[in-house]
Amino acid sequence: MSQVLFEKYRPQTFDKIIGNDEIINEIESTVKSGSIPHYLFYGTPGVGKTATTYVIQNVLTKMGLLDGFMEINASDERGIDTVRDKIKMFARIGGMERGKFKIIFLDEADSMLEDSQEALRKIMEKYSENCKFIISCNRIFKIIEAIQSRCTSYHFKPIGMEAGINMLEWIVKQEKGNVDSDYIKSIFEQSHGDMRKCINILQSSLAGNRRKLSEVFNTDTYDRIINSIVNGNLRQPLVDLNKLADDPRDIVQGLYNSVFEKDLKNSKEFYINLGELDRALSMGAIPKIQFAWFISKMV
Ligand SMILES: Nc1ncnc2c1ncn2[C@@H]1O[C@H](COP(=O)(O)OP(=O)(O)O)[C@@H](O)[C@H]1O
Ligand SMILES: [Mg+2]
Repeated sequence: MSQVLFEKYRPQTFDKIIGNDEIINEIESTVKSGSIPHYLFYGTPGVGKTATTYVIQNVLTKMGLLDGFMEINASDERGIDTVRDKIKMFARIGGMERGKFKIIFLDEADSMLEDSQEALRKIMEKYSENCKFIISCNRIFKIIEAIQSRCTSYHFKPIGMEAGINMLEWIVKQEKGNVDSDYIKSIFEQSHGDMRKCINILQSSLAGNRRKLSEVFNTDTYDRIINSIVNGNLRQPLVDLNKLADDPRDIVQGLYNSVFEKDLKNSKEFYINLGELDRALSMGAIPKIQFAWFISKMV
């Protein structure tokens, strides 16, 4: 199995996109009317922001309305030069055929620097007639107000349990594989509605490499860290936390899960401080320092 399954099963039509039904229906009817506003899609990873953009591209291409599509991953190209040169160039040329327009898809736009966003805003304004932007990001507050106000924004929420599990079961069937329902359910529960993560874990399981989910999600490590904090250690849990390769927000989730499962005497204190930690990290604070702060509060 060489193909990456989450790409193989990327939806090609609106009806294949699961979850966020109202949003998807609204986008579908707008797209089918033949013109779109600038869009701003935000929400946690693996919930269909990029997939929806590609469906929009497909549908408009089939309708004969698209005059070009350019994708820029802003986390690779953060600087003002990209905006000035690449985007402006693309926005400016062509696209004058009657009724047709171009799309510039800016993925992970929350890593764009503020001056680039300012430059972007000007381009959006100037060329909005024949060039539409689809901006996708995890953290909406990193997008400057002037861009937000020019876009129709949609918050993509994590995929619901039933729809998510159905999709995973369906993939197993398509792949003629055999993965038991309990395992699929656990994959979903521990991925918190992130379908990319679910499908990746499912793929290794289908390839015969069925890993213990406690390893995939580092459950044992989180348990050890929480125990260590409860026992009053400052340094060891910090060392363990800093070793984890997970995304910082996933680490908070892992810690939360462990506290929840253990039902500790001081759960309340943990929850309050995990809340603070989560908030700080979502604002872009330095993870190592926030983890140290969190452990110091708890020991
Ligand atoms: N709403 C969804 N419906 C169907 N598949 C999805 C959905 N969200 C994610 N997926 C699956 O996960 C993969 C990654 O999703 P993507 O759209 O790239 O997420 P993101 O929200 O991070 O942009 C897709 O290629 C697809 O296989
Ligand atoms: Mg994406």
